[in-house]
Amino acid sequence: MAQKPLVVANWKMNGTPSKAKVLAEGVHRAMGSPYPVEVVLAPPFTALETVARLIGKKLGLAGQNVHWEDAGAFTGEISAPMLRAAGCRYVLVGHSERRRLFHETDAQIAKKLSACLRSRLRPILCVGESLSERRQGRTRRVLASQISGALKELPEHARKSIIVAYEPVWAIGTGQNASRGQIIDAHSWLRQALVPFVGESRVRQTRVLYGGSVNPANSADLASTPGVDGALVGGASLKASSFTAIVRAFAGRDKRS
Ligand code: PGA
Repeated sequence: MAQKPLVVANWKMNGTPSKAKVLAEGVHRAMGSPYPVEVVLAPPFTALETVARLIGKKLGLAGQNVHWEDAGAFTGEISAPMLRAAGCRYVLVGHSERRRLFHETDAQIAKKLSACLRSRLRPILCVGESLSERRQGRTRRVLASQISGALKELPEHARKSIIVAYEPVWAIGTGQNASRGQIIDAHSWLRQALVPFVGESRVRQTRVLYGGSVNPANSADLASTPGVDGALVGGASLKASSFTAIVRAFAGRDKRS
């Protein structure tokens, strides 16, 4: 694989700035520079500035969500230019918690992607099927429609900067990660679904991450799974030692393969 693996810490709605500082310091200290893995932290909005100040250029910073307009009367929302000014280079878009709890639609997700690209933020587009969709044999259909719903309106050059995270909803926060076979199948299907939007040659460079109950015990296996270019980590990213163990599993993958 040409690009470095990407491992993203999604802290969700956890941590005041002082707690975020301790956690970010722990991760920062454990990472060498240069390092064979790209590491990105996605703290809550209120901790972005604190984390940005201490990670410097060694780690990347991401927003967990973004609004599709750049400014205006949207109480409680954060825009892409604001995230960019706070030091972000990445944004999570369409996380299943946003889709499920906040009723985000594919059309809104598509507008959010455009907003990211206007502000030179790289979106990490999250897709994934629910348990009932999997049981009904609809996984592939759901993934393809989430990809197409998000990307079809974007100009071609913009589609190329997208990173995709496959996060089966049933694996998030449940301790039940997807099996190697399920991940291989979903990732290769996602690449096929991406071809009409990014082109055959570019699809090989589009990073597809896995997320859903990634932890230090399953990360070495995940890192050596074909088609996995990194991980999106929730619960296990809230402890510096467990998150850096996952990062190290990705750092060691070239030695194992
Ligand atoms: P989890 O969350 O690692 O706690 O399952 C992953 C995510 O929601 O991105």
